[in-house]
Amino acid sequence: MTQRLAAWTQHTQRSALQDMLEITSGPEYISFGLGLPNAACFPTEQLALSANEVLLRQSNPLQYAPSFEPLKRQIQELMSRRGVTCSTSQIFLTAGAQQGIQLLARLLLDPGGTVMTEEVTYTGFLQILEPFQPRILTVPTDPVTGIDVDRLETILQKEERPACLYVIPSGHNPLGYTLSREKRQRLARLAAEYEVPLIEDDPYGFLAYDDLELPAVKSFQSDGVYYVGSFSKILAPGLRLGWIVADEAIIEKLSIVKEAADINTATLTQRIAADFLAKDAFELHLRHLLLEYKSRRDCMLEHLSAQLDGIGAWTTPSNGMFIWVRLPAHLDAMTLFQESIATEKVTFFPGNVFAAGQNGNASSSFRLNFSFNDPGKIEEGVARLSRLVKRHL
Ligand SMILES: Cc1ncc(COP(=O)(O)O)c(C=O)c1O
Repeated sequence: MTQRLAAWTQHTQRSALQDMLEITSGPEYISFGLGLPNAACFPTEQLALSANEVLLRQSNPLQYAPSFEPLKRQIQELMSRRGVTCSTSQIFLTAGAQQGIQLLARLLLDPGGTVMTEEVTYTGFLQILEPFQPRILTVPTDPVTGIDVDRLETILQKEERPACLYVIPSGHNPLGYTLSREKRQRLARLAAEYEVPLIEDDPYGFLAYDDLELPAVKSFQSDGVYYVGSFSKILAPGLRLGWIVADEAIIEKLSIVKEAADINTATLTQRIAADFLAKDAFELHLRHLLLEYKSRRDCMLEHLSAQLDGIGAWTTPSNGMFIWVRLPAHLDAMTLFQESIATEKVTFFPGNVFAAGQNGNASSSFRLNFSFNDPGKIEEGVARLSRLVKRHL
């Protein structure tokens, strides 16, 4: 029998790049491709102690359950570090930021509606949009200064009001920029003035390496800004834990779409995370993580400078896990990627993968992840990459 699938699935396909990245996961490859945290930095032993404590001493950690209040109080405290004052009733737990964005998209967007995002953005958001087959309004963006808020305002003046605007103000994936305080304020003001719901995706907000933890956009405008947070990058993605901060009226609606999606966020990992966060271990862990990732970032930057100075340009990210490299315009990053798989055996994401709508063109750029590999691998990987680029000049 032929498969009768929904119409939107006809346009979707697994990207050849994903297949390629799976094939290239062997030890001979150096991966700068996926946005993976470093597994050696996971606080495995402390989480094991917390798991033991939760499983053996708490009542019903394996049962269906409403969100765990102590964890919500801990998130409330974390949010105050992002400049956001909220009550625990404004915090909604999710299975990671990805689910947070997806639930919000389901609440905000009608099929065939209009959404707004940057010309180059997180592919996970674009995947979420697919079933809605929306019209995507794209805003120009820059790897250093971020979303162009002047153009954003012009588009808002001219076009229909979009169902939502999606942004990643800190440690942008893939560009790596962190938006200035002024632009954050303007974004918040524009969202309010034009009544456009703003999704602030902030998985990298706490990963700030240069003592510059800028407040969340939500701290400047509470109404209509939906903050999405995650424990994936500051604790471990395998916990599948994240959160949304929104008005109470929205939380009620979110609980309806969440129940339909997966009933409740995993009871066990909520409690393990809460036990871990209640101990001093979290502060120590975060400090260690920041030092470790900062030194990996600096290591990658140093070797890029040593190898590609005068050939390419790249960002110095203050947050997150990614460096964006721009090559001379005649070089095609997808061609380089394909050749790299066969010869140098180093992986990265070609820029066009992140292009939204019709306008995004990043064909001579690529994204490098610096959190996953140790400094020795980073040095070797950048050397291989540079050999590849130089062959094409
Ligand atoms: C910008 C952005 N949003 C969301 C996610 C998904 O995070 P989570 O593991 O919390 O679902 C990622 C993961 O890489 C990301 O880079």
